[in-house]
Amino acid sequence: MKVLARAGAGPLSAAVRAALPCLWRGKYFSSGKEPAEKHPVTPMLRHLMYKIKSTGPITVAEYMKEVLTNPAKGYYVYRDVLGEKGDFITSPEISQIFGELLGIWFISEWMAAGKSTAFQLVELGPGRGTLAEDILRVFSQLGSVLKNCDISIHLVEVSQKLSEIQALTLTEEKVPLERNAESPVYMKGVTKSGIPISWYRDLRDVPKGYSFYLAHEFFDVLPVHKFQKTPQGWREIFIDIDPQVSDKLRFVLAPSATPAEAFLQHDEIRDHVEVCPDAGVIIQELSQRIALTGGAALIADYGHDGTKTDTFRGFCGHKLHDVLIAPGTADLTADVDFSFLRRMAQGKVTCLGPIKQHMFLKNMGIDVRLKVLLDKSDEPSLKQQLLQGYDMLMNPKKMGERFNFFALLPHQRIHGTDQQMTARQSKRSSSPVAGFGALSWR
Ligand SMILES: C[S@@+](CC[C@H](N)C(=O)[O-])C[C@H]1O[C@@H](n2cnc3c(N)ncnc32)[C@H](O)[C@@H]1O
Repeated sequence: MKVLARAGAGPLSAAVRAALPCLWRGKYFSSGKEPAEKHPVTPMLRHLMYKIKSTGPITVAEYMKEVLTNPAKGYYVYRDVLGEKGDFITSPEISQIFGELLGIWFISEWMAAGKSTAFQLVELGPGRGTLAEDILRVFSQLGSVLKNCDISIHLVEVSQKLSEIQALTLTEEKVPLERNAESPVYMKGVTKSGIPISWYRDLRDVPKGYSFYLAHEFFDVLPVHKFQKTPQGWREIFIDIDPQVSDKLRFVLAPSATPAEAFLQHDEIRDHVEVCPDAGVIIQELSQRIALTGGAALIADYGHDGTKTDTFRGFCGHKLHDVLIAPGTADLTADVDFSFLRRMAQGKVTCLGPIKQHMFLKNMGIDVRLKVLLDKSDEPSLKQQLLQGYDMLMNPKKMGERFNFFALLPHQRIHGTDQQMTARQSKRSSSPVAGFGALSWR
């Protein structure tokens, strides 16, 4: 953990991100069953009702996609939804330690994979850019380690508003941003530490070079299809207009099988299942890239290993929110099914995890980093907030158990050559990958 101590020069003022308590999105909520007191007719509701009246009930996946990322009215597209003033809070917004440890993870993987002369850091759904900012600060502080490496940053973001906030957080004001709304690379600039940074709407547009990929609370916003087991077999859940109440939506069951049923497992034992084909497509893309060029992907989210059923839920103003009420004003999310992600990797890469957030951060040395920050701080209120942030991230009853880490790595990173494997097996049994085992520097 020597390097963590060196990274301790980070600005303490940045250590505290949010006055607690704010609501984190991992909280579980069974959807659509709450009594609806008010049904404000939002522009999104009007749009959806028009769509349903013209073409019939829509899948939950179509509903989620429209509500969250419709280019004209989507929840994420035109506002800052994170933080105290937004609808929910995420780990990087709670404590700088989170992003710093992830920065260490990428450097540790870069070193273990042979210190390539260049790499791309690609973040999916970067929110306010806070996580990337903390990671880049670690890269700067460990500049002597990374000095011969050409780094570039690539952000995949569909939200116009959030991409503007990311640019404010991450880029050098004196260097004007290049913008081209028509191009797959819709914005380009230079970070405060002089690293080239580019924005895309789709992962497939990011150059296929040697890359480290990061997705924190990204997969849970991708649209899910929902299925219910019935005496007639699996039936997909759709969303329709309630014939009893004007301007109200309701869940209905499809009368017969639908194409998305192909994603269900033949031996499925649950009676309600959520599947996310978009997550499958992204995992396949990541796996192919990593198998071809090396690198790694680190995915952190709340989720389960193919065990949970109805996890579709909404958040608004730090409160749980009925998913069908006032669409477009609340965040929608569903737990990530890590067993599905593993299946979609199709054996092209090695999947590690899911491992609980508190174990991953412990393995990455969060206690040492917290101690460094506490020792540096003279202000009791700052110390108190650091401890509160640590508790929020690590407490098994808070984010510690609900959030998980999952990684995709080239097979040779884990299995190495036969010789390396024998040497490793004789030394230890835990994972050679930091976070999934103890962090060690070679
Ligand atoms: C829940 S926020 C998480 C933000 C950030 N990673 C954090 O942890 O603070 C989800 C992020 O994904 C973005 N997003 C949502 N759907 C997306 C999509 N289909 N493609 C790219 N980005 C998307 C949102 O705009 C937002 O930046």
